[in-house]
Amino acid sequence: MKKNFILDYAHLLLKQYISFDDIVVDATMGNGLDTLFLSEISKKVYAFDIQEKAIFETNKRLTLHQITNVELILDTHEHINQYVDGYKAVIFNLGYLPNGDKSITTRTDSTIHAISSILPKIPLDGFIQLVVYTGHDEGKKESESLNIFLSELDSNLYKVIKTELPYQDNYPPYIFMIHKVKDES
Ligand SMILES: C[S@@+](CC[C@H](N)C(=O)[O-])C[C@H]1O[C@@H](n2cnc3c(N)ncnc32)[C@H](O)[C@@H]1O
Repeated sequence: MKKNFILDYAHLLLKQYISFDDIVVDATMGNGLDTLFLSEISKKVYAFDIQEKAIFETNKRLTLHQITNVELILDTHEHINQYVDGYKAVIFNLGYLPNGDKSITTRTDSTIHAISSILPKIPLDGFIQLVVYTGHDEGKKESESLNIFLSELDSNLYKVIKTELPYQDNYPPYIFMIHKVKDES
C-alpha cells in the first residue's frame, strides 16, 4: 500500500470487481490517475470532466503510458448516458482537482443527479464507487446528502457498503460501493 490508504483501498476493490472484458466509466477524470488505473484492468474506459485542464493532464498521462483504450469527454457526468451505451461500473472521486482551482468541485445536486441516471443503467453485478471528501464545505454537504440519498435506495436491489477510517483525524476520505444485486421491475 502507498501513502493514500483509502485511494489504494478503492483501487483494490476495483481490481476485485472489474475484468478485462468490461467497459467502465471514470466520472471525475481529474489528473487521470484513476483513468490510467482503470485502463489497465478493463477493456475500455470513458472518462468525464468539466475542465479542459483535466483532459490535458489525463491525455498527457495516457500518452506517456501508451494507453489507447480510453475516450476522454469534456462534459458533466450527468450526461454519461448520452455518450456511453453500456457499462459495468462508474467511479467518482469527488471534490476538486488536486493542484487546481478549488472552486471547481463536484456539487451535491449534480452528483446525485448523475448517480440517479446511472443506477438504472448498471447491469446486475454492476456497481458505482464513490470516494467522498468531507474536509471542505461543499464536500461536507455532498457527503450528508449522499448518506441520505443512499439510505433511501431499495436495499433489495442495491447493497451499499461504506468503508471509512473512523479513528483518524483530519477528515479522511471514505468509500461507498453501491452494488446492483437485483434488477428493477
Ligand atoms: C478529486 S478530482 C478527481 C481526481 C481524479 N480521479 C484523478 O485520478 O486525478 C474531481 C474532479 O471532478 C471534476 N468535476 C467536478 N464536477 C464535475 C461534473 N459535474 N462532471 C464531471 N467532472 C466533474 C473536477 O473538475 C475535478 O477534476
